[in-house]
Amino acid sequence: MPKIQLDRSDVSFDCPTGETVLRAALRAGIGMSYSCNVGSCGNCRFELIEGEVAHSRQDPPAWTAKDRDRNRWLGCQAVPARDCVVKFRPDPAAVPLIRPAPRQGVLLRKTALNYDITEFVFQVTGGPDFLPGQYALMTVPGCDSPRVYSMSNLGDGGEWHFQIRRVPGGAATTALFDHIQPGDTAQLDGPYGLAYLRKEAPRNIVLIAGGSGLSPIVSLARGALRDTNRQIAIYFGGRGPADTEAAAVLRTLDPARVSLTCAVSDPSLGADWTGRRGFVHKVAIDDLGVELCDREIYFAGPAVMAAAIGAALHGLAVPRDQIHFDEFY
Ligand code: FES
Repeated sequence: MPKIQLDRSDVSFDCPTGETVLRAALRAGIGMSYSCNVGSCGNCRFELIEGEVAHSRQDPPAWTAKDRDRNRWLGCQAVPARDCVVKFRPDPAAVPLIRPAPRQGVLLRKTALNYDITEFVFQVTGGPDFLPGQYALMTVPGCDSPRVYSMSNLGDGGEWHFQIRRVPGGAATTALFDHIQPGDTAQLDGPYGLAYLRKEAPRNIVLIAGGSGLSPIVSLARGALRDTNRQIAIYFGGRGPADTEAAAVLRTLDPARVSLTCAVSDPSLGADWTGRRGFVHKVAIDDLGVELCDREIYFAGPAVMAAAIGAALHGLAVPRDQIHFDEFY
């Protein structure tokens, strides 16, 4: 089994055959920066000082020509061929509170939430559960590589719930939506993700989700109700009214502490829609403005939406440590 030595330190960890440097580091309790786990964000870059690695995904989007020149690799994709010496700055914020582990999930049921989002419920074995807002890597039968899906529940009783949006033509969601049946198994690896509930934070909470970002926001809302006494403002958006039907579960949460605002962005859809119109992040920012500086903010959804929210919060001078999102697209 290859050993990974952190350059100029006494930190080292084993990397089981076929495992990536990032996952081995996190399993060993070492805080290696990351976000997406699938080669898109570049947060897990490290420099290879000695040894040999290869990426499991060909040409991951975040791996640049400059990285190649400088012998820098992506921790979430780099699989060592032998012992290595690597250089990265350990990040205390990335030390996992629950160490990720491979697990097996047996599908208990699947329930359509609207025309393109379905909830999949797995009974999971293999260790402790997860924090509200975290995600797992799921490998479904018939697909070689794992996909990233966030949990929507709190992990009680070993059940992991995923609210997943169908990707037209996508191999993994086609398998999940059309082929996998209750009793079938999927490989799960987790929990991962740094956009988990900060239950000690002394601020009210804002949750913003678009489309496929629903699942972690549902988990965070449930966790905040269970673990804090904070007020929770939820903003959920989609193109048309049919998209917002998936948020029905949010309407069942305690109205004394939870407010829900749904917005639709496509002006050609829902002529009789009486709710808010516009991109959901703009609606949230219009409503709350500088009040966001005194909120704990979590968001999830498409890359464009995440980038726009990040820029807007930066413009409002919201402290970075009050902003939480995982960058996987
Ligand atoms: Fe590795 Fe995003 S590229 S965590």
